Amino acid sequence: MGEEQTLEKEKNFINYEEIELVAIPHIDEQHRLFLKLTAEFYEFQNKNSENLNESFKVFIKKFVELIKIHFLDEEHILERISYPEYVEHRLEHENFIKKILEAVKKFDTGKDFVFNEFVHFLRDWVLNHISLWDIKYAEYISFLKKSAG
Ligand SMILES: [Fe+2]
Repeated sequence: MGEEQTLEKEKNFINYEEIELVAIPHIDEQHRLFLKLTAEFYEFQNKNSENLNESFKVFIKKFVELIKIHFLDEEHILERISYPEYVEHRLEHENFIKKILEAVKKFDTGKDFVFNEFVHFLRDWVLNHISLWDIKYAEYISFLKKSAG
């Protein structure tokens, strides 16, 4: 891929139109919010080399706070509907938090940590999780609604 094309592609670090919807407004809003936060840090680290460490600490603290609240919200919903894949889904969430904390440890010790790679990892994990896991419970909820109605 040429440099121009790479830049063109990276301009849309997140394409908001392509974030799949689970049709629970506050959950969709949370998905947008932490993807937006990730995109903001991505832009920042592309343009700045000063204060990068401090900014990263602020960013990742906020990201982890938001995602923990979000995962709890989602898990409460799945519990309420007795979602058959509740345990597996929750494990996915827990593994993501673990991976983030491992990366933060690498950042703290200055080993094998690349800001650019890490923000791509966050983005890809979230987008994949929504389209592979969250969409499944969204379909299950719509199935429950149909069966009830
Ligand atoms: Fe989820």
